[in-house]
Amino acid sequence: MASVQTSSSRPYHLVIFGASGFTGQYVVEEVARTVSEGPGGNLKWAVAGRSKQKLEKVLEQAAGALSKPELRTEVDIIVADVQEPDSLAAMCKQAVIVLSCVGPYRFYGEPVVKACVENGAHCIDISGEPQFLESMQLNYNNQAADKGVYVIGSCGFDSIPADLGVIYTRDQFKGIPTVSTDTDDCVHLYSFCQGASIHDGTWQSAVYGFADSQKLQSLRRKFNHKPLPTAGSKLKRRGALFFSNEIQQYSVPFMGSDPSVVKRSQRFLAEEYQSTPVQYGAYVGVGGLGSVIKLIFAGMMFWLLVKFSFGRSLLTKYPEFFSFGAVSKAGPTRKQMEASSFQLALYGEGYTEDQDPSKGKPNAKIRTLVQGPEAGYVATPITMVQSALTILNESPALPQKGGVYSPGAAFAKTTLIDRLNKHGVQFSDIVNTKASHVIKHVP
Ligand SMILES: NC(=O)c1ccc[n+]([C@@H]2O[C@H](COP(=O)([O-])OP(=O)(O)OC[C@H]3O[C@@H](n4cnc5c(N)ncnc54)[C@H](OP(=O)(O)O)[C@@H]3O)[C@@H](O)[C@H]2O)c1
Repeated sequence: MASVQTSSSRPYHLVIFGASGFTGQYVVEEVARTVSEGPGGNLKWAVAGRSKQKLEKVLEQAAGALSKPELRTEVDIIVADVQEPDSLAAMCKQAVIVLSCVGPYRFYGEPVVKACVENGAHCIDISGEPQFLESMQLNYNNQAADKGVYVIGSCGFDSIPADLGVIYTRDQFKGIPTVSTDTDDCVHLYSFCQGASIHDGTWQSAVYGFADSQKLQSLRRKFNHKPLPTAGSKLKRRGALFFSNEIQQYSVPFMGSDPSVVKRSQRFLAEEYQSTPVQYGAYVGVGGLGSVIKLIFAGMMFWLLVKFSFGRSLLTKYPEFFSFGAVSKAGPTRKQMEASSFQLALYGEGYTEDQDPSKGKPNAKIRTLVQGPEAGYVATPITMVQSALTILNESPALPQKGGVYSPGAAFAKTTLIDRLNKHGVQFSDIVNTKASHVIKHVP
């Protein structure tokens, strides 16, 4: 197994690659806040990117924001460029873990994964791009296993709340003595608070991700996976637009990476630990009729434009216009972020011990919540950094072999959820009922 300890030749626990990016700068601040949580109460870290000047500016800014002047002088800078493999190799040789913040990952992610695997550094990213995540698994899992390297993608808001939220919900279900533990369904619904805003980098990842989403099907066939066993009734897919009684809002299927990531985790847990996979569907609440009309209009325009290179260049040139102001080149201000939060509700159904899953509908229900601060640039740095600290502090609880993992697969046996609870990304609010009590509570 690649080491989780520093040495004279590998001096940094963490190297933040892409530290000068919009998200990277907040990852820098989060690492600076959590140094005492490193092994033995210490964390050695450096920032990396292609521009020394920009990295110096980021450290300057973090020093001011956190009132930690020592950041200006005590944090090392590594210059590395995705286009220069030797510079990536040199960076990876010095790091126990690389926190990869350089996206869109479909363009920049693979050379970083490759360099990490070849040079014995674990790799954590915040990609929300299923095609990138699954192709890394297909292409690098064996090599990462041989090298004892963990490559753990989607450790941001995409998709830690959903992936660990499903595991948390299932574990709470197990705690109920009358409920069978091995047959549970899980539907989940999102609800965002007002005021959320997205930076251009995430918008670009979405534009190019949607542009060739068809390729995902052919990629998946290459895994040659056996169908996952299901217990009890099959989870019904909901419509393309429906009114959710659970959250009292119109809702649509969630198009991000959560379903792909959750499925990969559930497959791993089924194959590795023989647990019955949770069936899962992800939806996002869009609000009332006015918001639905806006969404239909924006969605149609997006689907139309994303198919053509001219359309994609329009979408990436004018993100504010095409997203009705939700995306901006400048990204949200600190004030906007402070006013924002996320909430994710998971609704699960299963069977009590006296109920035969093959005869009849699920007869017990559960609801859990994952909630936290602004999703993209506050919660994401927290989940990313806590994932890295979990590798450093809890390596015996990680999968025995290295490989390319989803967060749920890598961290199911660790205390990552407890760590996140302590840092404001909270898994809580369990409601257990028998089916006769229809859940009307709106999160
Ligand atoms: N999971 C989540 O919920 C979540 C949340 C936030 C962001 N993200 C993802 O994180 C990624 C970054 O987003 P962002 O908004 O931070 O983007 P961004 O501001 O555009 O940052 C991109 C970073 O990549 C660097 N970069 C670009 N080309 C490079 C190269 N050839 N070599 C080295 N570095 C290079 C940039 O360096 P320069 O500064 O030198 O240009 C910059 O540091 C996106 O894929 C986004 O989707 C995910």
